[in-house]
Amino acid sequence: MDRVEQLLEELTNAYGPTGFEGPVRAIMRRELAPISDAVETDGLGSLIARVERNAKAPRIMMDAHMDEVGLLVKHITPEGYLRFQLLGGWLDAALISQRWVVLTRNGPVPGVTGLKSPHVIPFEQRSAASFKWQQMFIDVGAASRKDAEDRLGIRPGDPVAPDSRFTPFAGGKHYLAKAWDDRVGLAVMAEVMRSLAADPPPNAAYAVATVQEEVGLRGAHTSAYHVKPDIGISLESGIAADYPGITPEEAQEALGAGPGLFLHDSSMLPNLKLRDFVLDVAKGLGIPVQFEVLAGYGEDGAEMQRSYSGVPTVNISVPTRYLHSHNGVISRQDFDRAVALVTEMVRKLDAATVQQLKSFD
Ligand code: CO
Repeated sequence: MDRVEQLLEELTNAYGPTGFEGPVRAIMRRELAPISDAVETDGLGSLIARVERNAKAPRIMMDAHMDEVGLLVKHITPEGYLRFQLLGGWLDAALISQRWVVLTRNGPVPGVTGLKSPHVIPFEQRSAASFKWQQMFIDVGAASRKDAEDRLGIRPGDPVAPDSRFTPFAGGKHYLAKAWDDRVGLAVMAEVMRSLAADPPPNAAYAVATVQEEVGLRGAHTSAYHVKPDIGISLESGIAADYPGITPEEAQEALGAGPGLFLHDSSMLPNLKLRDFVLDVAKGLGIPVQFEVLAGYGEDGAEMQRSYSGVPTVNISVPTRYLHSHNGVISRQDFDRAVALVTEMVRKLDAATVQQLKSFD
């Protein structure tokens, strides 16, 4: 297992539902602080690191979000079961019969979203049986509400994270884990900063690990106003569409075919000069790039783009299967190519190039 694989394992295993990004922030601070010229946090908790050898140079903001989709304890039933609120976008089918960790003041408490046994569902109804999240509960093995509160330390408002461990797949070519959205973007950003710190670029390069993306890009909003970027590069997990039952009308990326470049999602259209810049840099490196046009989806790039008077921004992705579930899959080759592409992009963004990209004349 190399350093990158170790970082991916540590980042995806960490529990960090929206609003509870502390464990992920600690990893990112440990990775970025020794190699950055400055590391700070903004008022919402996003971590902002920079490599800056010239304060007059253009500011390039890379962004990846620390939070993962999760749940939040709404109330505890008298019998000791937890009812919950969703944090971020979940399919009901992805929630049922899964393992979870409730993050309490006493530490992590394991639980499961119990599923009614087929024995009590009439045979002819079984294939149609579906379960709405509002009907679900988390079983933590408590005897009563008082037991859940006093012995296990659970309180309403406690965050709940999916429980799923990082597992190399296909002999290390693919990785299976939760929370690729957006721990994969954080790892890309950390690796890019490692190269930039060793050989500083002709700009001020910012690596921003944001909070609260999954509930509406909230961290990116405040951190973009903190950084005041000239160029925005959002780093995300893309939507792979290379498995049975999904079509190119829904999403277009495939594992192993290179980083994704978003041309449309419901939050942002990329700057077209910057899109062409990405394609030129990729071509120079011999890296294939996949296009992605999605009807839905949102990403932090939208907040960078709309900050101040507007900022040329793109969203670059590592294609990911089964996003927003306990089990996603990425390709190591796509990851390495995304790092190489973004590193070279930042290296080429000198003052003249940035000025040309920002100009509409
Ligand atoms: Co995301």
